[in-house]
Amino acid sequence: DAPEPDYGDIGKLTYIRQVLNEGLRLWPTAPAFAVEPLEDTVIGGKYAVRKGESIQILIPQLHRDPAWGENVELFDPDRFLPEREEERPVHLFKPFGSGERACIGRQFALHEATLVLALVIHRYRLIDHTNYQLKIKQSLTLKPDEFTLNLARRTSGERRLPTAAALAAGNAPAGQDRPAVRRATGTALTLLHGSNLGTCAGIARDLASDGDERGFTPSVASLNDAVDKLSADGGPVVIVAASYNGRPTDDATDFVAWLEGLEPGALDGLEYAVLGVGDRNWAATYQRVPTLIDERLTAAGATSLLERGAADAAGDFAGTVDRWTGDLWTALLERYGAAGEATAAESEDDREAGLYELEDATDSVIGGLAARHGVQPMEVLDAHELVDMNHGLGRSKRFLRLRLPEGVTYRTGDHIAVLPSNPHDLVQRVADRFGLDLDRTVRLRARRRSRGALPVDRPLTLRRLL
Ligand SMILES: Cc1cc2nc3c(=O)[nH]c(=O)nc-3n(C[C@H](O)[C@H](O)[C@H](O)COP(=O)(O)O)c2cc1C
Repeated sequence: DAPEPDYGDIGKLTYIRQVLNEGLRLWPTAPAFAVEPLEDTVIGGKYAVRKGESIQILIPQLHRDPAWGENVELFDPDRFLPEREEERPVHLFKPFGSGERACIGRQFALHEATLVLALVIHRYRLIDHTNYQLKIKQSLTLKPDEFTLNLARRTSGERRLPTAAALAAGNAPAGQDRPAVRRATGTALTLLHGSNLGTCAGIARDLASDGDERGFTPSVASLNDAVDKLSADGGPVVIVAASYNGRPTDDATDFVAWLEGLEPGALDGLEYAVLGVGDRNWAATYQRVPTLIDERLTAAGATSLLERGAADAAGDFAGTVDRWTGDLWTALLERYGAAGEATAAESEDDREAGLYELEDATDSVIGGLAARHGVQPMEVLDAHELVDMNHGLGRSKRFLRLRLPEGVTYRTGDHIAVLPSNPHDLVQRVADRFGLDLDRTVRLRARRRSRGALPVDRPLTLRRLL
């Protein structure tokens, strides 16, 4: 009866995340980061520092600043309730360092830690068998010295089950009494994304297929593609955008610059909605770009169809996106819909048959996958293991040196996404097991919206798909 949480479930474990954050507040893994002034200056009217002089910020001390309230030594996860977080200056909490060189792996680290802690405490009771008193061991990082726990497996009775009432609330009545459904009559709907790693682009594509089912004529493009092209006659516009260190994604930089130069009234009559995608781990610049886009559109005379959504990748991301999209369709159909026949968006048959349908395709194979992700081949100049893999705790981390192709740049704070490809032997094994011809050209159709990364609606060989 072990749960198998999926990506979306982890964001709902908000209390576990608060516990981890409070742990990181009292004892951040890395004890310090360094900064230096760009000019001679006096900090707080008191401390003179010269240009280039290095200052160490002691993070455990920063995390005990009086601004945290009384009794800063007390372990109190409620400090990380969203409403209390909102009241605090964003620079008070820096468990992953600061600025563009802060830990790039923090999203993954916290996601993984939340998952592991949740599974452990679901299965075991933790027993403090030595009456442990915290003793810090410091190497490069801070950790508890000689800390061990005993585990006792929980009985199934100890694992609390959802109550009958909660279950009933979750299962909306099926079929009957479906309210009269409104449908649009071919209204153009433009979905624009500001996306580096594909989250926002994926949501925009999902919204397009939802829109299609609801009678709109959707089109999907990057924000940069919309420069100079937005107007009231083009139908409503929905924007899904992210920020990276407070700056726009590569496919949105021109758009943001264009918006900033617009005269008031330039977008009179345009109706729009913005869904911001962000991560509170970047507290100082959380949701900065979607917020800016929303403000600038309003300043240029455009009208917002509903309040900007703010999905937090460190919180209940899927839940927020689903609630916002529900409100979006309500607002759009109130405005552009006509009463019509109820058509079920997805039938039970579809549900049972799985997410994708595979069909043979005859069109030529294109580099669609690469094009969709905007990836390019790069030459690997050097690759070697950095970790002693003979050590019992060794987990592979590899050094990679790449030659950047012509026209590709890389600077501090940028990161590189790798489109992985499975080893040939593994692909061949799958083909042999299922009797597949790897050169067969197929096309995947998504039966219902999904945030998956599989390439749909384009021909490709089974070899490429696998
Ligand atoms: C290097 C880096 C910097 C980020 N900076 C911010 C930020 O300043 N503000 C924010 O709200 N989210 C920030 N995020 C979170 C991303 O916006 C979030 O992961 C989003 O899902 C990315 O969308 P995309 O996959 O469409 O590019 C950052 C993520 C990374 C990896």
